[in-house]
Amino acid sequence: MDKHDWRPEAARDSLKRLLPLLEKTHEKKIVDIPFQWNLFKARLNREWERLFICLHELYGWQFDFYYTLEQVIDMLIRCWLDRPSDLQQLDTQREADPLWYTSENMVGIVLYVDLFSNNLAGLYDHIPYFKKLGVTYLHLMPLFSAPHGENDGGYAVSDYRAVNPDLGTMEELSRLAAVLREQGISLALDFVFNHTSDEHEWALKAKANDPEYMNYFLTFTDRTLVDRFQEHLRDIFPTVRKGSFTWNDQMQRWVWTTFNNYQWDLNYGNPIVFKAMAEEMLFLANEGVEVLRLDAVAFIWKRLGTDCENQPEAHTIIRAFNAITKIVAPSMIFNSEAIVHPDEVIKYIRTDECQLSYNPLQMALLWEALATREVKLLAHSMRHRERLPHGCAWVNYLRCHDDIGWTFDDGDALSLGIDPQEHRKFLNHFYTGQYPGSFARGIPFQFNPTTSDLRISGTLSSLAGLEEALEKQDNGMIEQAVRRINMLRSIMMSIGGIPLLYAGDEYGSLNDYTFLTDPTKVTDSRWVHRSKKRWQAAEDLTQTDTLEWRFFYEMTKLCNLRKQLPPLKNGGMEVIDTGNPHLFGYLRANQDQQLLIIANFSEFDQVIKADHLAKTGMKRDGFEIFTQKTLPSGEDLSFNGYRYMWINISDQQEHPRETPG
Ligand code: GLC
Repeated sequence: MDKHDWRPEAARDSLKRLLPLLEKTHEKKIVDIPFQWNLFKARLNREWERLFICLHELYGWQFDFYYTLEQVIDMLIRCWLDRPSDLQQLDTQREADPLWYTSENMVGIVLYVDLFSNNLAGLYDHIPYFKKLGVTYLHLMPLFSAPHGENDGGYAVSDYRAVNPDLGTMEELSRLAAVLREQGISLALDFVFNHTSDEHEWALKAKANDPEYMNYFLTFTDRTLVDRFQEHLRDIFPTVRKGSFTWNDQMQRWVWTTFNNYQWDLNYGNPIVFKAMAEEMLFLANEGVEVLRLDAVAFIWKRLGTDCENQPEAHTIIRAFNAITKIVAPSMIFNSEAIVHPDEVIKYIRTDECQLSYNPLQMALLWEALATREVKLLAHSMRHRERLPHGCAWVNYLRCHDDIGWTFDDGDALSLGIDPQEHRKFLNHFYTGQYPGSFARGIPFQFNPTTSDLRISGTLSSLAGLEEALEKQDNGMIEQAVRRINMLRSIMMSIGGIPLLYAGDEYGSLNDYTFLTDPTKVTDSRWVHRSKKRWQAAEDLTQTDTLEWRFFYEMTKLCNLRKQLPPLKNGGMEVIDTGNPHLFGYLRANQDQQLLIIANFSEFDQVIKADHLAKTGMKRDGFEIFTQKTLPSGEDLSFNGYRYMWINISDQQEHPRETPG
């Protein structure tokens, strides 16, 4: 910040003037808790300057900016006063351990409550299951009140303060959060803040032509303006609808709807919307949410003449939310869901913005390498794109409730002699099973004939060949599919950051085609990998000769090892040159502890030469964790198809044994 910047002083002055007034307003509640109030004030003083600057950037030009400041501080005080004491204690605890989420103990799982356990009450019974897996982070997919029928899997929220009655109540949710916390599991929820459903109270009032609420959304009477915006926008769900605007008869206006026509984009240019949404966010924090997944972050600010994605103001809004959280609920962190170009994804990841972020590039490139059996694009991209600021972490995943998009950088591909568009076509062919010899059973998602863009739906196991292998009852193919799946999972667990399992993948669930007969789902192929948990499979976990058990066992083994191996502690990750186009390798190091991880992406035997091993740092004998065998230095190392090794190459070695949960 330049030294003539007037804003720090203005920030101090505004707080000096406003706080005593607001302190008076809330006097009755504050008077009994002087110690806590001082703590709150200390946080407010600490964070206010950056919050003020963000607010000024967004709304400073508006005539009533001072009123906005007052409203925001008042809201902060009210939400803080509502914060339950156990969560306030957690805040203090987390402030003493601010990087808690970067621990190697973190393992996440994400699930739909209705599909997993019917409702919130049913989830309690499965806490032992999560514990067995080693889960410390449970992401429940959107569970708020939403329109009946189509609601984009809950991503059209009608009320941020009400749980969908089919799933339970808000009280049940906060009780569950507390029980999970006691068990060392942090609750993660979505904050769907780009849009509400068209049944949200604000949208209903807007539809009734209330000008105050019309201004909560982006509505237009002028089609030429709509067209000028539209010119630069991409279609997110092109098979469902063209364009990003929906005509509303009641208002006689066009409404901005980036996703489905029932998802109305909020107008963050209006400070009242900012404050209202911040309040909804803090409400969720006060229910016990510890990780908030910021849904569709890239879209929250619109600017004429641009694609209206990743605008600077989108970052400013998130930074303001971050400051607000640090003041009222500092134990809560953000996970950014920006499924955009890798150059943009990384910009959201900062300790003063989102501490965590999905890693769509790594996810897509693991699948890319699995299809091509070559790791060059993966290795190259990971080498120069994965580094994060201190205090931030990737959320690594193989599958989630969404599709796979081929999000790699065209320049990265071209530098390796890969034609990016042709390559994407190949990958789509491969994963929809059309490419000769493909093992994958993916389903096309959102083909856009104008751009030829296509994404892929399907479960981890079906995409990795298990579905086809089981259908053909070919034991060799089954074995290969199992090996592919386990190899991918071993990478997710060891490459750094937080691994996030998509529920079902821990025991190898396959595609479920029943969505094709459901009229509310049939147009959205993502439902093929959103299936009801097959409890038969869970029961099978006691029968150790099933595939499900093998997958589950391997998963618990990986989780346990992850938590025991010192080199996997936060620390960095360095991609190594294995000298073999099919072997992906990286080094995890923490102080003097080093782990060399190598995975074979082909079905054939591969070798890494001794001189390459030496260059990676394996100057003395290594110790392979899974086989518990010593690997002599100076010798070539062979890998069977899809084999992976975790090799301890530290000078001082402690060897944890494989211990399933
Ligand atoms: C996110 C969700 C996706 C949803 C979209 C709109 O990308 O992951 O499922 O369709 O946001 O809310």
